[in-house]
Amino acid sequence: MRWVAIRNVRANSVLAQPILDERGRILLARGVLLSDNLLVKLRTLGIGSVCVEDALTDDIVGKDFISPHVRQQMLDATYSSLNDLASGTHVRYVRGARLRQKLRPLVEEVIEELRNLGGAEQFGTVYLSDGELYHHSVNVALFALSVGLGMKLSADQLLDLGIGALLHDVGKMRIPEKVLKKPGRLTDAEYTEMKLHAQYGYEILLNDHDLHGSARLISYEHHERMDGTGYPRGLVGGDIHLFGRITAVVDVYEALTANRVYRPAYLPHEAYELILGGGGTQFDATVVDGFVDAISIYPVGMTVELSSGYRGVVIHSPRRQTQRPLVRVIEDDNGQPVSQPFELDLSRELTVQIIGCEI
Ligand SMILES: [Fe+2]
Repeated sequence: MRWVAIRNVRANSVLAQPILDERGRILLARGVLLSDNLLVKLRTLGIGSVCVEDALTDDIVGKDFISPHVRQQMLDATYSSLNDLASGTHVRYVRGARLRQKLRPLVEEVIEELRNLGGAEQFGTVYLSDGELYHHSVNVALFALSVGLGMKLSADQLLDLGIGALLHDVGKMRIPEKVLKKPGRLTDAEYTEMKLHAQYGYEILLNDHDLHGSARLISYEHHERMDGTGYPRGLVGGDIHLFGRITAVVDVYEALTANRVYRPAYLPHEAYELILGGGGTQFDATVVDGFVDAISIYPVGMTVELSSGYRGVVIHSPRRQTQRPLVRVIEDDNGQPVSQPFELDLSRELTVQIIGCEI
């Protein structure tokens, strides 16, 4: 299997990974034949790439690093929690109690899976832009927990970090859709409005006494920056809660590597280098170190374009060498399939760069 930009998918290719909606329900199942009509529909829906079966890469299996049913349950729980919270007014306490009850077993299951795995891997998922907030929230929680595990946080801390990270953008539920989903860059006034989501999030969670303060603070502080350049309060350094500092790093990484209506995704290593570059200034250097240890950035199966003109597919992306994965070359510099696919280890071939990818 490999990820292919939708414009490059040939008609009648077979879908190798399902397309999920905002609640984690399967919109298009694995094994579906992508007819011309279906491809047009997917393009209209704004889907940038899909994972397809491919003869040259049929031994490559890009598996989610958590069980697919756990990811689906997390999406469903995040969807209902964020919507419940946004509509709740006088019953917040009750909702808060239910909320923690609902999220706790799921987050504990995820922690267990991540503990066995020893980190998180970037995983290609396809979803409609309507589901962006929910998929983003789940990915941020998975990355935050991986970093937290690497930093040896206690079981109680991890639970609060996971729940708080799932809810970190709950304030966006109060931002008008025309701003939230604007298909273009925000004006200064719109950006000011968007920034209010951190304050709103804090207000929404304030009376949920069942949520621990540290989980609540994530929504308030995930846009603060160590050097005081963040919002809403412009906090500096250690005044920002550790969970806010962890979520800041993984939130930026996750947002940069996702396609947005107004810009394509950054290449994973570009986003990664941006995070590394911000260590010690915008971001907590210890957290950035934890991020480097915990996250593998190139999803297995991603089609990449190399500076040598070749195209290949990521086979392996080890941690700490994650910017330079192992690639199977399948097309030459004329765009023709190579007669014999071969492997290129970018951690050794330092003159070759990844200059594009299909996701
Ligand atoms: Fe946010």
